[in-house]
Order: sequence, then structure tokens, then C-alpha cells
Amino acid sequence: MKITCIGTGFVGVVTTAVLAKLGNKVIGLDIDEDKIAKLKEGVVPFFEPGLSELLINTQKSGNLTFTTDYHLAVPDSDVVMIMVGTPSAPDGSADLRFVESVAESIAPHLKENAVVVIKSTVPPGTNKHIRDLIGSKTTKVFHLASVPEFLKEGTAVEDTLHPDRVVIGVEDEFSKEVLTKLHEPLTSNILVMNPESAQMTKYAANNYLATRITFINQIADLCEYNGADIEEVIKGIGADRRIGPGYWYPGLGYGGSCFPKDVKEIAAYAKKVGEPDSLFIKINALNEARVSRKLEQFKKETGTFSNKTVAVLGLSFKKNTNDTRVAPSLAVIPWLISQGATVRATDPQAVDEAKALLPKEVVYAKDAYAAATNSDIIILLVEWDDYTNLDLSRLAKLMKANPVFIDTRNQYEPKTVINAGFKYIGVGR
Ligand SMILES: NC(=O)c1ccc[n+]([C@@H]2O[C@H](COP(=O)([O-])OP(=O)(O)OC[C@H]3O[C@@H](n4cnc5c(N)ncnc54)[C@H](O)[C@@H]3O)[C@@H](O)[C@H]2O)c1
Repeated sequence: MKITCIGTGFVGVVTTAVLAKLGNKVIGLDIDEDKIAKLKEGVVPFFEPGLSELLINTQKSGNLTFTTDYHLAVPDSDVVMIMVGTPSAPDGSADLRFVESVAESIAPHLKENAVVVIKSTVPPGTNKHIRDLIGSKTTKVFHLASVPEFLKEGTAVEDTLHPDRVVIGVEDEFSKEVLTKLHEPLTSNILVMNPESAQMTKYAANNYLATRITFINQIADLCEYNGADIEEVIKGIGADRRIGPGYWYPGLGYGGSCFPKDVKEIAAYAKKVGEPDSLFIKINALNEARVSRKLEQFKKETGTFSNKTVAVLGLSFKKNTNDTRVAPSLAVIPWLISQGATVRATDPQAVDEAKALLPKEVVYAKDAYAAATNSDIIILLVEWDDYTNLDLSRLAKLMKANPVFIDTRNQYEPKTVINAGFKYIGVGR
């Protein structure tokens, strides 16, 4: 099949490479000329495990090319996929301006019977608006579908090659056949529904996961009043098959490029349609207040951050990515500096990205040990493998007297850290 993928960001690069690996002829298009120049040379413009090799191999096979030119990219394609960003507007609603702009750009070039697929996360109802927009600029027959993306940064290649499910939102048999055929090599679990259900499925999945994180944080906060350990509580509830043992992350709340905006967007949607008591309005408010609440609590437990040197481990929003969108480091580090602390930060992949966004006073270290040297406090923000098997005794010796270990991801047993010579502060324990 001939496919054009528009927007070669995190979703776009992974999708183009995987669809090309399946034997399709794929063109990736972006308006960012630097990004396209890099991709043409086989360079992935961000860190994602396994992606570089896949990109190089599919380009060598001749199945994958990149361009910035809509005239070249669209006219021959059977399927045109839109996967540009959909950030939140100031009122929280999904800002569809990039999707609209792509719709206008592709319309004059579509071939007869092209299937246009919205992969960007958009609210239910968007298909009608985009259909009208494209329809106003072409006389060709085209089909509009929704195939929301569920990949996770850090495991994006694996997620795309072996998805839990593919959700296809269509209104006609032709699109159903084309899109089922395209995705069949990836999974037998293909769920066909209408576009609104597909778009709602995407929001429901992310809002559920964000709610799960907020829920466990609420329970963790209560544990701190009574000697319960949230990690033991998680084992206890996880054994219930209705609840399950996975995806429990007590900590500083959810971040990243998707959950915060997808919760805001569904909360804004709820308000717009007349549901002002929506749970998601509260989930968003709780998460937005989370980092400050925990920092004030850490301050109480450590005494003060003023004149302290703090080693911050982890600058990305989670491990195995250099994406810093809504990363805890971006809230924690400026706050530490405002408290009079000196910050020595480190990350295996995200230093360059974080440097552009953090105050200039931050000193960057090559690893956890270098960051900890002569520090008073360690704050572990991201559970990169480099930080979950630290030699704690060595670390404590490198630090000033009475070191403190703040483990915002509950990666260590409190006793182990205490035995290595630290005061231990976790979340909900
Ligand atoms: N990142 C994720 O983990 C993830 C997972 C699932 C779904 N999504 C959704 O997928 C969509 C894309 O997310 P992303 O993280 O890949 O975004 P991104 O910001 O990394 O990439 C978007 C790309 O679109 C390009 N672009 C913008 N306007 C364009 C235009 N008119 N023509 C061509 N290219 C244009 C930008 O230059 C950029 O390279 C969003 O709706 C997001 O919510 C993201």
C-alpha cells in the first residue's frame, strides 16, 4: 500500500518506520526542515530505544522516504495519515489548528478514494469538522477515518509492532477493508467501531491511566498518616484480579506529552457539553497541585533546602525517553533554586533538552555519583535503570554529612537506604 504520514514527531517516525517494515511504500512529511533533513540521513531526532536501527533499515530497503513537499507526498497515496500535535489551548480544549492546517494542505492533492486517517488525539466530533474542511477544497471522493495511537514513549517500537489492539473508527466499508488489511500484520485484535467511539476510546484509556495514578497518590497520602506502606498496599490490592498488579505509580503525579493534555482536554470537553461535575476536572486539579504539595512536604521533612546542594537524578518525564514535556524536573528544579538550593542534575539522555528549559544556574553532572559528590540531598525523579541499582554506600560516602535520599518513585527499600547511611523519604511509606 502507498501511505503518507504527516507529522514526523514521536508518533510519526515510529509509525512510518513500522509501516515501511511491513512492506508498504511510506512517505513521511513534516514542515520542520531540520527534522526532515536529519531523518533523510537516518538520524532519529529524539531518543527512542530500537528506532534508529528500524529507521535506517527501512530507508535502505527503499520503502521509506521523507519530504517537506505536499505536492510530492500526497497524490499517489492510498492512505494519508495525520499525526501532528494536538496541544491543549489555554481553556484546556484540544487545539486542532495543526490538524486543520494539514487537512487544508492535503485536500487539493488527494487521489480519488484516498483514505484520510486522523491518528492525532482529537475529541469526538472532529471528523465532521475535518471532513467539511477537506471537502471544501477538493471535488474528489475521499474517506475519513480515525485510528487513534496508543504507543508509549520508551517502548514505542515494540508497542507499534505488537499492539494490545488496533482501534479503527470508520463510517464506510471501503475504509474498513483498507485499514483492516493495513493493520492485520500487526495484530488479530482489531476493533472496528465508529470514529466517535474510536476517539472516545483513546481519551478514556489515557484518562483511566491518569486517574489510576491520581487514585494511588490519594491512597499514598493517607498512608503517611498511619504507618501503612503504599507498596505493601499495592501488593494487597493488586492480587485482586479485578484490580491487577500493574501500572501503579505513587509519586509526584503524571506528566509527559499526553496524560496532562488529554485529561485537560476531556475536562474541557465535559464542561463544553454541560457536564461541569466531571471527575476529570478534579483529576486535573489534583495533579496540577501535586508537585508543590509534595515539595512542601519534603521541605518539612528535610528542614530546609536553603544553602543545600541537591543532586537531581532524572530530567525526562519518564525513563527511556529524552522527552521533557511536563517532566517533574521542570517544576522541581526551579522550585529548589527559589528555595536557595544549588542543583546538580543528571540524566542518561535528556540533559540537552532539559538545559534549554531549566534555569542557567543548574550544574550538569555526567552520572549519579558525580551529581551526588559534595551534595546534601539526592532527589530521584525518574526510575532510569542507571538510578535503580545505585551503590548506595558509595553514594553516601561521596556526599556531605547526614545525607538525605528523597525517592519520589519508591525504587528502594527504605531500610536498605537507611542502612547505607541516609535519611530516607519516599512517597506513602
Ligand atoms: N507522543 C506520544 O507518546 C503519543 C502517544 C499517543 C498519541 N499521541 C498523539 O499523537 C499526536 C502527535 O504526537 P507527537 O508526540 O508525535 O507530536 P510531536 O509534537 O512530537 O510531533 C508533531 C509533528 O507534527 C509536525 N507538524 C505540525 N504541523 C504540521 C503541518 N501542518 N504539516 C506537517 N507537519 C506538521 C511538527 O513539526 C512535529 O514534527 C498528538 O495528537 C498526540 O496526542 C502521542
